[in-house]
Amino acid sequence: MTGGGLFVTVEGVDGCGKSTQTARMARWLEGWSGRGVLRTFEPGGWAGGGLLRSLILGGDVPDDRTELLLFLADRSGHLASVVVPALSAGEIVLCERYSDSTLAYQVWGRGLPEAFAGPLIEVCGFVRPDLTVLLDVDVGTAERRLRGRGAADRIESAGAGFMARVAEGYRELARRSPERFVVVDASGSEDEVAALVEAAVRGRLEGAFD
Ligand code: TYD
Repeated sequence: MTGGGLFVTVEGVDGCGKSTQTARMARWLEGWSGRGVLRTFEPGGWAGGGLLRSLILGGDVPDDRTELLLFLADRSGHLASVVVPALSAGEIVLCERYSDSTLAYQVWGRGLPEAFAGPLIEVCGFVRPDLTVLLDVDVGTAERRLRGRGAADRIESAGAGFMARVAEGYRELARRSPERFVVVDASGSEDEVAALVEAAVRGRLEGAFD
């Protein structure tokens, strides 16, 4: 438990079904826990975040280091204005994307050195999630899902090799922190994945709200 509340992050490659599954999780988690559930996201889930989100996803970002620093600035504002106040009020915060996205996309995907990004994230002192749900799906399936959605943003357009590296990065991060991660096979139908997520998360959080 973090500051009285519970901080849960949801991660995965673009097209893994993150938003759909997070919405479904929020519904049963509220009833089951008896707590308030705040759904939020990065990049952009705070008052100043819209500007940063459109700059990051649509703007002219000159290099990978700038991209990384913009994600960290967004996280800092999001934590201070949304996440930490909700955790302090005892709520469950359900956040789509967080620091694992930065490592998977900017280190494994873009190729920035982990020796640069890792300590930078560390020194920011961001709140550590209590639980991270990784929706693991093969890149081909994720791409098919994305195609149905219209124009790709700047990061989604980075190509299949990029997304495969991001997916591998996520798996490595999960291997390194098994106590924090729940890895769910997200290749099935929406209902199948939702059932797997619910079973895995209930298993991990059993007794947390007694
Ligand atoms: P997201 O909002 O999940 O995309 P969408 O709304 O299109 O589903 O995330 C936007 C993109 O930002 C996504 O491609 C992942 C990327 N991202 C990073 O590269 N690093 C980060 O630290 C974060 C939070 C997101």
